[in-house]
Amino acid sequence: MPKYIVEPFRIKSVEPIKITTRKHREAILKDAHYNPFLVKSEDIFVDFLSDSGTAAMSQEQWAALQTGDEAYAGCRSFYELKKVVKELFGFENFIPTHQGRAAENILFSTIVKEGCAVPSNMHFDTTEANILRNKGEPLNLVADKAFDFNCKDSFKGDMDIKKLKKAIEEYGKERIPVIMLTITNNSGGGQPVSMENIKEVSKVAHAAKIPFFFDACRFAENAYFIKQREKGYSGKTVKEVVQEMFSYVDGFTMSAKKDGLVNIGGMLAVRDAKLFTEIKNLSIIIEGFPTYGGLAGRDLVAIAQGFKEVLDESYLAYRTGQIKYLGEKLNDLGIQTILPFGGHAVYINAKHFLDHIPNEKFPAQSLVNELYLEGGIRGVEIGNIMFGKKDKQGKDIWPKLDLVRLAFPRRVYTQSHLDYVADVFERIAKNKNKIKGYKIVYQAPSLRHFTIKLAPAGN
Ligand code: F0G
Repeated sequence: MPKYIVEPFRIKSVEPIKITTRKHREAILKDAHYNPFLVKSEDIFVDFLSDSGTAAMSQEQWAALQTGDEAYAGCRSFYELKKVVKELFGFENFIPTHQGRAAENILFSTIVKEGCAVPSNMHFDTTEANILRNKGEPLNLVADKAFDFNCKDSFKGDMDIKKLKKAIEEYGKERIPVIMLTITNNSGGGQPVSMENIKEVSKVAHAAKIPFFFDACRFAENAYFIKQREKGYSGKTVKEVVQEMFSYVDGFTMSAKKDGLVNIGGMLAVRDAKLFTEIKNLSIIIEGFPTYGGLAGRDLVAIAQGFKEVLDESYLAYRTGQIKYLGEKLNDLGIQTILPFGGHAVYINAKHFLDHIPNEKFPAQSLVNELYLEGGIRGVEIGNIMFGKKDKQGKDIWPKLDLVRLAFPRRVYTQSHLDYVADVFERIAKNKNKIKGYKIVYQAPSLRHFTIKLAPAGN
């Protein structure tokens, strides 16, 4: 393990955070119904809830905001972003959206009908929910290695091509309006997809005349892993790798709140002219005129600048190095994580760590809550609460993984924050057998994790 990860920036503007007492946090968590989504950020010390929209912008991005053109139609800022999108991703046609799920809504409302299926390696929760809302069926066809904690394959985000071919046969190509790949695979450990797999999925999709799209939020982290790990790419720049990745797809949805290095924004890009007209028309109704979508002109230039900065390899080395640094410290404490470490988060196998808590008492959520109580740290459950379902008989169907994700905001925390988090884990590990599970008191019909209310379940 490297002794330190040097941050390739210095801090110009600071935001104070404060550590509270355990007693204070116990009261706060109870008031929040044991759901850290409902805790105020001022009551958090280290916030690993999400890497989405939480980045620190650079001086160049803050300066660019001042140049935003706020004209209703045809704003200069849109054309600045368009130039970068064309150069980096090779797409002429795109609409800005206020964030990733708005792009998903517009795409799936346009192309998904009842009875359709949408295969992906793994859909993220909002993607899945937007497909279901349009009466489609989300299919997660990631290779089985994604679920194997002992496997250290370099590309555990890869789609299983056999499963994909089988799905096309089963549903028929008319019922599959799009095939997707999430890069990196957020729901499965932030694991990258290899260029080889991207090419293979593209081949299968195009042979069946099915459009192939990326869910592209973490494109730069995926490209960096390809450069690091895949044969034939070490001599290329990250930008060249990104350009090649996107040359195989017909479109993409993107939350720019991740690798766009901004606090809000997204986009939907397509090659097909007819589809572009349809999504533009829908965007006008639900997001905004196509040259601003759901954003202000200034947001568009901040994204354009973010796309340039995120390709910097010293940044990407620091970024992925931070994840590995904390992850290895947790492994040294005997805490099992998804390996190899992914691009934006450490994912902990909560079922292994809290093996005395059964599925129905939510091991990962119990660990999330203990992290808050012990250290004011906010992580997120990606497991039984987020993806748990009931079958028609009312029996629980649990997802394969019950994970705690510690997602790192970009350019926000320093190494001593990571050392602090590791110390909190050390204390928790010593007394982990005393941690108890939770039961559900209230849940919404979809995306229940955001607003769920829980209570301690006892033993
Ligand atoms: N796709 C993936 C892979 C995501 O990780 C997210 C968001 C979205 C789509 C939706 O984008 O939030 O801009 O509407 N992920 C965040 C997270 C919320 O914490 O992982 P959005």
